[in-house]
Amino acid sequence: MPGGVTANVKYFDPYPLAMRKARGCRLWDLDGNAYIDYCLSFGPFILGHGHPRVVKAIHETLDGAGTTTLGTPHELEAIYAERLLRIFRPAGRLRFTVSGTEATLHAIRLARAYRGRPLVAKFEGHYHGAINELLVGHEPSTEERARPPAPESATDGASGPGVRNPLVLPFNNLEETERQIRRHAKDLACVILEPVERSYIAPERGFLHGLREVTEDLDIPLVFDEVMSGFRLGLGGAQHAFGVTPDLTCLGKVIGGGLPCGAFLGRADILDLADPAGDGFFHSSTFAGYPLALAAGMATLDELESPGTFEGLLATTQTLVQGIQERLIGHSIRAQIPRVGTVFSILFMENAPRTSSDTLRADSARRRELDFGLLGRGIFVKPSKPFYMSTVHDHEAIEETLRAFDGALGGLA
Ligand SMILES: Cc1ncc(COP(=O)(O)O)c(C=O)c1O
Repeated sequence: MPGGVTANVKYFDPYPLAMRKARGCRLWDLDGNAYIDYCLSFGPFILGHGHPRVVKAIHETLDGAGTTTLGTPHELEAIYAERLLRIFRPAGRLRFTVSGTEATLHAIRLARAYRGRPLVAKFEGHYHGAINELLVGHEPSTEERARPPAPESATDGASGPGVRNPLVLPFNNLEETERQIRRHAKDLACVILEPVERSYIAPERGFLHGLREVTEDLDIPLVFDEVMSGFRLGLGGAQHAFGVTPDLTCLGKVIGGGLPCGAFLGRADILDLADPAGDGFFHSSTFAGYPLALAAGMATLDELESPGTFEGLLATTQTLVQGIQERLIGHSIRAQIPRVGTVFSILFMENAPRTSSDTLRADSARRRELDFGLLGRGIFVKPSKPFYMSTVHDHEAIEETLRAFDGALGGLA
């Protein structure tokens, strides 16, 4: 495996840690060292690893069906689709996928089919999966971000002859975003974004509403990629939290309860283009609607919806963030902790970031030192990445984490 990993995101210098097992909020590596997990497989395990309710649902579904997947429509699909639509778009339609990447891929294809125009608009620094045109402007260099026009660089193989580059827009800059959208309107198939940038930078007041107004005005489908944010701000994602309804929504991560699952949903008149009777838009996937993932996802939502659970998770996140802030002050270290719902990051910089471009000004060497200080003290965070919280990060885990922060921050130059 190149780099010893099956996904680039899992790599870090000089080599990533290999884990053997997990339970609740804890992980154990191949050498038997224990860690409190703040990566949670990049977000999905909002109830922690091996939650009894989720494990039971997986076992019962497997026992009941006698197989892992049926290759036909089945009941769980219908039940879960109705449930997700009730949350996100009661009169809409939905299709399941196996990953978040597939959800965004098909959402932009659908939007193209609906509009009959080629150009996708996305935002600088936003991630929607490893899809050619959506990787353009994903990780632009500091120099490129500093000079207009918007970045056009992409990872190798994602742009070049034959691939149409997207229009790359600036997050939290409504004036420029609107100007660009109006300028390119006749070519645009859709506008896609992470409504909460990189899962921890909130949209500024009026930004999502303004974006909704201009796209509605021009009949350009607005796509919210809520693969990360869907169940991490509350039940119903950024669209509920900020009161803006997109035309299409992409989901993933939490909706599979720790098993591979994604979905794209939205306006019936757009989704119905995929109706086989119409024969216009082809979407297929051997494992889409994987029963075990749907059962695990529904069990996860059952738990999240039980009274007080999400509030408790938000309160734990707040306790930890506040504890880290107190320790930073105690060690006279200046840092920002941008947080949205149950996800936060730590950035060594003077002012709170408004966009992912701003985060490039943070002292990344210092963050790396902190991350390695934490790893050495039994706290698993993927270096440089956000911290994801679960309902099973209990008082003891938080206390242990704050002790590790005290040690790691004390070791920073
Ligand atoms: C916002 C967002 N969209 C899409 C994806 C891709 O999802 P997946 O890794 O399940 O393909 C991710 C993954 O991190 C994501 O954070």
